[in-house]
Amino acid sequence: MLTTNEIRQKYLDFFAKHGHVIIPSSSLLPENDPTTLFTGSGMQPMIQYLLGEKHAAGTRIADSQKCFRSGDIEEVGDNRHTTFFEMLGNWSLGDYFKHEQIPWMYEFLTGELKLDPKNLYVTVFRGNADIGVGRDDEAIALWTKCFASAGIDAKVVEDADTNGLQGGRIFTYPEKKNWWSRAGVPANMPVGEPGGPDTEMFWDFGEHLGLHEKSPLADPVCHVNCDCGRFMEIGNNVFMQYVKTADGFAELPQRNVDFGGGLERVASAVNGDPDMFRIDAFAPARLALEHSTNKTYGSNESDTYAFRVILDHIRAATFLIGDGVLPGNKDQGYFVRRLLRRAVRFARKLVVANAIVRSVSEAYIDMYNVAYPSLDEKREAILSAIEMEETKFAKTIEQGLRELKKIVDRGNGVTGTDAFNLYQSFGFPLELTTEELLRSHNLKVDADQFAVDFKKHQDLSRAGSEQKFAGGLADHSVETTKLHTATHLLHQALRTVLGDHVAQKGSNITAERLRFDFSHSEKMTPEQIAEVERIVNEQIEKDLPVKFEMLTVDEAKARGAIGLFGDKYATIGDKIKVYSIGDFSKEICGGPHVEHTGELGGITIAKEEAVSAGVRRIKAILGKKA
Ligand code: ALA
Repeated sequence: MLTTNEIRQKYLDFFAKHGHVIIPSSSLLPENDPTTLFTGSGMQPMIQYLLGEKHAAGTRIADSQKCFRSGDIEEVGDNRHTTFFEMLGNWSLGDYFKHEQIPWMYEFLTGELKLDPKNLYVTVFRGNADIGVGRDDEAIALWTKCFASAGIDAKVVEDADTNGLQGGRIFTYPEKKNWWSRAGVPANMPVGEPGGPDTEMFWDFGEHLGLHEKSPLADPVCHVNCDCGRFMEIGNNVFMQYVKTADGFAELPQRNVDFGGGLERVASAVNGDPDMFRIDAFAPARLALEHSTNKTYGSNESDTYAFRVILDHIRAATFLIGDGVLPGNKDQGYFVRRLLRRAVRFARKLVVANAIVRSVSEAYIDMYNVAYPSLDEKREAILSAIEMEETKFAKTIEQGLRELKKIVDRGNGVTGTDAFNLYQSFGFPLELTTEELLRSHNLKVDADQFAVDFKKHQDLSRAGSEQKFAGGLADHSVETTKLHTATHLLHQALRTVLGDHVAQKGSNITAERLRFDFSHSEKMTPEQIAEVERIVNEQIEKDLPVKFEMLTVDEAKARGAIGLFGDKYATIGDKIKVYSIGDFSKEICGGPHVEHTGELGGITIAKEEAVSAGVRRIKAILGKKA
């Protein structure tokens, strides 16, 4: 049977044969995109090329991209969700289109991977008159021809979502399922966002497994998009042809293909087992975990769940640390910490207090050595970072358990507020309190009260982080406020001159000067400095209005606001303040600012210097050079 490494290689070889340049995976940390913490799909690093910019590698590109979806942490535990995965990708940047992509995909899956077409099903866009995009008959015709080549008469079914499979092979679905953009369905797309209809491929693991009957997530009747797990989506061909406009859609200057397919899911199909954690890529790590816990994967449901969480989380943490994120309390580091602590917590369900992370991480470094040799180069750094975090967390646990025992010994039970205090003071998670109390004392904790306290705490820290923005300011005097507005102009001007990789790394403003740290790896040339200064002064001369709006994080991102999208803003429904300066700059910020840029008079860049590797600092003062 083909291994995961072989499948990746076959995919890249196949597209190389069809004229594609193979590019390496980008980092899990987006380099040119301040709106998101992680690379979550293969197309993310490709966005400007899909919009028409020229790619140095040409118009046919393929890769296998490392992806991390932090939003899926809680989803892990079923047979197919992971936070980290590899996305096989191929792109036509205004080159080939449906007529090539669909037969190639069919050939790759059935010819190269030898997947039986009888178990392959596809979906296409049903069409929507409201957005002026019709049913994808072209894709239907192309798939029909592919299946006919294997002697399969592919029936088209239009209502599988309500009436089931009905012997169909090609299913139409509305845009909720068969339209793709970074923002989702057409109605959610901001102006300027590219997207289009897609056609997805599904693998049928078979009715005989009885997954539909067993799954609590199953729809009333099974169909390919049912969540029961019988069918697995193994790839999505997006025909990225449209761009959202103020009053609907326009054609992009070029018609693109954006294909993304989960490598591990494809490997599951090849493996013929709907449990993704049974593919070879997980095997050595699974064995290491079995060895250190003395348990067998798959022997009972709750252990299997714990195994999957640990296997996923340690793999994700291994790759994230490999890309330079250390466990911490902020931004990306917070997620690495959360992954590792969750893994350790679940390990404690399997076996009390055993060091597990090192051996599992090591198994992954070996497994992925072929495709990601840089993991091996950083082996010791990765292993020591995760071991350190495990040790730190073990201490937290011991300390928390001691405190918990004191509370229990008081004899009046454990309240939600007690549990919250344990969390707040020692980082001791609610789940551990709950488990420990049940196991050792047969006591329950009031999770609702915990939630109330937790929310109070969140509100306070959010107010705190609002202040942190103002906190970069020494005071709210007129001069400081002017320099704060100047900082926004400078930030945008740097991006205009140096590129979109420029992101704020720090800011400190007094009444005398602004100091702005930003990501950029080289010393700026005198010409670049002069150009940035010129642009800022130009915007000041235009006397642009400075305004703010309250937006949700999603709205702010959709409108292209720059600034610090930290996890502190992750709460759904929360509004944040976004300042705009004319059409020149849009940035998340707590204020305060002047009302018109003219008030600034002008600025002079006084100094440009290095702060650390990849970070530069500019100091600027009010007043134009004579
Ligand atoms: N960009 C498409 C996806 O992520 C292929 O599903």
